Amino acid sequence: MSKYSFDEVMERRGTHSLKWDFAPSLSNSQELLPLWVADMDFKGAPAIVEAVTSRAEHGIYGYTGISQEYKDSVVSWMHRRHQWQIQPEWISVITGIVPALNMLMQAFAQPGDQVVIQPPVYYPFFNAIRNNGQTALHNTLIDRNGYYEIDFEDLEIKLADPKTTVMILCSPHNPVGRVWTEGELRQIAERCLVNDVLLISDEIHHDLVFAPHRHIPTASLSAEIAANTITCTAPSKTFNLAGLQSSNIIISDEKKRRKFQQALDRNGVFAINPFADVATIAAYGKGGPWVDALLEYLSGNLDLVESYLQEHLAPLTMRRPEGTYLAWIDCRQLGMNTQELQEFMEEKAGVVMNQGHVFGETGAGFQRLNVACPRSLLVEGLDKIAMALKSIS
Ligand SMILES: Cc1ncc(COP(=O)(O)O)c(C=O)c1O
Repeated sequence: MSKYSFDEVMERRGTHSLKWDFAPSLSNSQELLPLWVADMDFKGAPAIVEAVTSRAEHGIYGYTGISQEYKDSVVSWMHRRHQWQIQPEWISVITGIVPALNMLMQAFAQPGDQVVIQPPVYYPFFNAIRNNGQTALHNTLIDRNGYYEIDFEDLEIKLADPKTTVMILCSPHNPVGRVWTEGELRQIAERCLVNDVLLISDEIHHDLVFAPHRHIPTASLSAEIAANTITCTAPSKTFNLAGLQSSNIIISDEKKRRKFQQALDRNGVFAINPFADVATIAAYGKGGPWVDALLEYLSGNLDLVESYLQEHLAPLTMRRPEGTYLAWIDCRQLGMNTQELQEFMEEKAGVVMNQGHVFGETGAGFQRLNVACPRSLLVEGLDKIAMALKSIS
């Protein structure tokens, strides 16, 4: 039995929760069960709630600087959890990885440049590239019966193209749940080096990895690779702090760091939200046992989804994710187009998941299911889908 309350169903409606109050559903029904947006329906680690409550009680929420204590907490977490030794001065703090990706495009790519991404992939990657005048070059992942692999032959061609200047890697990968192996990461990073392509490694899901898989920070592979890599991290996925809006961009190369700092300055980014400040220090300082318990609970939820699909939802399949709390459900056997599939899930079943096609065209026919919720809600969602399936069979 976990000493944390992952089974507790908390009311999130009415908190202006993006997931619960703003589902862009077809029917707008309040009865829809939201299993989309990648945040968790769990209360945060006790140490974080305590730190934020105590900060709130202070009553003055003025501008807050990036302290040595904050940076040391990030350094220590990376060392303890990922065996990655970074220096405090490598860290830049910004409100989120999505804004960081946009500013990285402004700083490191020219309009007209090509940027390699690996769909199906987290869709703001497409936006950051498009928003800043670059073109996305798709190194589409190969789907081998639900297990996704990198098409290295195609990657080599795309990285070697002189117009390609940047690659954005999603590690671990949202939505397909792969935790890239050391061999895969080395091959990507080395091909980027050889072709003088900057590697941006979005590692926001780095702590959400299930044994025996292990996250390897790309920049930890060698000093040379580190110098060509910009790592995007945050405590937000791990500890459910997305609403506090803070992330840590780690750059070991001084010249690149200066360039990114100029982009931050040009966009007027400085300081940190005072709640993100204390929450990060508490999370990285005291949150380890909570994350271990969370991973156990999430693994139980994935066991449940796996067996439920096999026993009751036969046309739907998934390959168990190696990391992330996102299950990539293959619904193609239902034979529905994207509109029909969305209507079926929302109007017939009454659940909202992320539509697969928004992650790239090879995502069509998939739904991304967020399993980071109390088990009773997950069962309710799966039961709803099973009932809807019965009604059409
Ligand atoms: C791969 C990836 N990067 C970035 C983000 C969001 O980052 P932020 O909230 O820091 O902008 C997400 C959220 O789901 C994600 O999956």
